[in-house]
Amino acid sequence: MLVNAKDMLQKAREGKYAVGQFNINNLEWTKAILQTAEEQKSPVILGVSEGAGKYMTGFKTVADMVKAMIEELNITVPVAIHLDHGTYDGCMKCIKAGFSSIMFDGSHYPIDENVEKTKELVQICAEKGLSLEAEVGSIGGEEDGVVGMGECADPDECKAIADLGVDMLAAGIGNIHGKYPENWPGLSFETLAAVKEKVGDMPLVLHGGTGIPEDMIKKAISLGVAKINVNTECQLAFADATRKYIEAGKDLAGKGFDPRKLLAPGTEAIKETVKTKMELFGSVGKA
Ligand code: 13P
Repeated sequence: MLVNAKDMLQKAREGKYAVGQFNINNLEWTKAILQTAEEQKSPVILGVSEGAGKYMTGFKTVADMVKAMIEELNITVPVAIHLDHGTYDGCMKCIKAGFSSIMFDGSHYPIDENVEKTKELVQICAEKGLSLEAEVGSIGGEEDGVVGMGECADPDECKAIADLGVDMLAAGIGNIHGKYPENWPGLSFETLAAVKEKVGDMPLVLHGGTGIPEDMIKKAISLGVAKINVNTECQLAFADATRKYIEAGKDLAGKGFDPRKLLAPGTEAIKETVKTKMELFGSVGKA
């Protein structure tokens, strides 16, 4: 069932668990995540970066593919299709293409401009029934050419954005996209607690879900995080399983070169990763 992310995140915040956002890159990825969500009876958010949207030939292709898959796979759990780190233009395109949720990442603008643009999108999303995520304090690391330094958000700026009426807020708390470096100091729970204090019941979003230790994930959820984004971990699991298949020479045996066989181990690895994350986030059985 395609829905916006508003209700599922409010329920998650109240129930002290988090809904996973798993980024998609192609048909196999999307199918694996949807099937796992249905098996686990978990709500799920499919994240689409602007680069991945382009790779999949455009946002309309993505939205239509997801909708058709929900129907043909009989997916009954709540599913949101969500633009990840959108520009203002990207948000407009996804609204038109039929996404149910968008993220406007105005974290690199001066706060007044972030407020101004987010405010416009709050109005548009409310009219069209989409949910909206905003960001304050950029997330570290590199994603689709967008590089952030891993700032800790200013709690007052978080309040200024939260008060506009967004549905979820990504606040930088020292989290980083991609693998965490050896010398990473960990999440700043001090910042998270200060943000939570200012924004009250607003569901908070933790980006860079790959490689954060389990105890930190649990603590973040206890402090108001209701959505956790995972991308790199699925990519690593997929690549690893595919490499092993090829290194074992299985593509050379019989019809092992058929993509339906070649991509199967990677697809299974994505399912396993998503299942493990859903268990850790506590969303299993919550649909
Ligand atoms: P990772 O790639 O580190 O899992 O982060 C994903 C993310 O935050 C997408 O917005």
